[in-house]
Amino acid sequence: MGKTSKDKRDLYYRRAKEEGWRARSAYKLLQLDQEFNILKNVSRVVDLCAAPGSWSQVLSSKLGSSAKIVAVDLQPMTPIDNVITIQADITHPKTLQQILQQFNGELADFVCSDGAPDVTGLHDLDEYIQHQLVWAAMQLTTCILKPGGCFVAKIFRGKDIDLMYSQMNKFFNKVICAKPKSSRGTSLEAFIVCLGYKPIPNWVPQLNLNQSTDEFFEGVLGGEERLMVEFISCGGDDAIDSDATYNLDLDKVSLDPIQMPTAPPYKKALELKRKGELVRREIK
Ligand SMILES: C[S@@+](CC[C@H](N)C(=O)[O-])C[C@H]1O[C@@H](n2cnc3c(N)ncnc32)[C@H](O)[C@@H]1O
Repeated sequence: MGKTSKDKRDLYYRRAKEEGWRARSAYKLLQLDQEFNILKNVSRVVDLCAAPGSWSQVLSSKLGSSAKIVAVDLQPMTPIDNVITIQADITHPKTLQQILQQFNGELADFVCSDGAPDVTGLHDLDEYIQHQLVWAAMQLTTCILKPGGCFVAKIFRGKDIDLMYSQMNKFFNKVICAKPKSSRGTSLEAFIVCLGYKPIPNWVPQLNLNQSTDEFFEGVLGGEERLMVEFISCGGDDAIDSDATYNLDLDKVSLDPIQMPTAPPYKKALELKRKGELVRREIK
């Protein structure tokens, strides 16, 4: 799709370039904050799965230089003012040590994860992998979030999401499912907003290299109870509709993205193609 046609189809995409955000996702965090005030009185934050960095940009601009913001992603990130970037896998226990070192033993007020694995198009599989990523984020969160702190993560609202609501509910005073207006209505994407962290009594979360996420939470998550939680659409009545196509003024020029991807997965494919080594595999 050409840049101009994407500009028309997706006004958040265009506005992000005009306003200097690296990705349109910035508006999701801005709209979540508008609704829940999650960045109020926050001075230590962990932004998991942060590349290319638009959430970190929002955190940096809202919290200023007195806050400690640590951003983690598998991909390298171009530096952002007031943000410490760590290139690491959030599912790896060593990543926790790297984050903790930055906080000098203090706990975080807020942890967020906008993590998304590469989508396969197989809905059940995508939902399962996304679910695992949220629990990996939650594993870190139980080790670094202060009591009373807040956790926000991207979820796919599939058929088993009520199980996750019930499990998260054990750790927080309130769990809400939020859909920012900048998240397309046609997508299953939403955000789980977990307010008021309450550590499980007599359970000491400890990350261990030889333990799976299931083993980490063993005995803590409980059975198969399910829970419906409040669903809130956020962004305000005047927010742009992310599923609508808008006409652009005739004199509008198409802008380049603020930050080109540092290590896009297609880079390797392009290299292989140049060398004539790209082969098409049949999917059975
Ligand atoms: C939708 S993007 C995040 C966008 C980001 N919030 C922003 O505003 O720019 C999802 C990110 O999740 C990262 N990711 C997926 N699995 C990860 C993992 N296991 N560890 C760290 N990052 C991961 C991907 O590398 C990708 O950059």
